[in-house]
Amino acid sequence: MKVFTEKAKIKNEISFLKKKKQSLGFVPTMGALHDGHLSLVEEALKNNNQVVVSIFVNPTQFNNASDLENYPRTLERDIKLLETVSNEIMVYAPAVEDIYEGQTKSERFSFDGLEFEMEGKFREGHFDGVGTIVKRLFEIIEPDNAYFGEKDFQQLAIIKKLVEKHSIPVNVHGCKIHREPDGLAMSSRNERLKPEYKKEAPFIYRILNSAKKKFGTKSAKEVTEWVEKQFANNALLQLEYFIIADTSTLKPVIRKSHKKQYRAFIAVYADDIRLIDNIALN
Ligand code: PAJ
Repeated sequence: MKVFTEKAKIKNEISFLKKKKQSLGFVPTMGALHDGHLSLVEEALKNNNQVVVSIFVNPTQFNNASDLENYPRTLERDIKLLETVSNEIMVYAPAVEDIYEGQTKSERFSFDGLEFEMEGKFREGHFDGVGTIVKRLFEIIEPDNAYFGEKDFQQLAIIKKLVEKHSIPVNVHGCKIHREPDGLAMSSRNERLKPEYKKEAPFIYRILNSAKKKFGTKSAKEVTEWVEKQFANNALLQLEYFIIADTSTLKPVIRKSHKKQYRAFIAVYADDIRLIDNIALN
């Protein structure tokens, strides 16, 4: 396993691979890797000669200082986990300075309105931070293919928009949500759940599945009210939002049309841990 901490060094290695016409797959992460991340890495390995995984807790996408501080940092364990998948992976694990060079600030982006919905409303500046880091990583790694999870569906849509608007020559691939056997979407934040919250958290996916069934016969408003009631009766989990949105614009659905694709999006607090999930409805 080759681990790089400096962009100059990994760029050098990559230019060597490019000369040999090797296809390059890229999986950006913030570490604390789990099987969800590994499923992206496996997809990248299947379709490329060489794969780069970045591990970088990006400060500019955190709108909450304690969330940034408490974000798990487990580089040694992450490298061991990646070695169980393949020894050929290249890891880029830079320090903040290597990326931001003394200017730890976000660029401002327009993602044609995608950034104002859902996570954009509740996490101010988050998507400017994501756009900034992913654009820089794309410039450093210059991948042919990049892999993102549908777990962060809005992020995936925004990355596709970033690539389109800035004419970045990379194919962006969305990968399915990887779940625990009890249905809880895998997340680096799950590690921080206290046992009683961990036990209760699969409630989120159960509700999403029930919402999906109800959406067959009921309006978005009726389904939303039903979901809100279920959480009002749950002593441990606090609903931040439940929104049924058009998959392409991410705008909340007002009137259902059978020609459109819809998805339900949810954000929930389990104690002080914020969990997100989503499900395709039709
Ligand atoms: P992180 O939360 O570490 O996630 C890295 C990638 O793994 C993202 O594309 C995310 O959607 C995907 N992922 C996480 N949990 C998953 C699951 N249960 N199933 C499938 N895919 C999953 O997302 C980020 O980091 C950052 O915002 C980043 C893109 C790296 C920019 O800093």
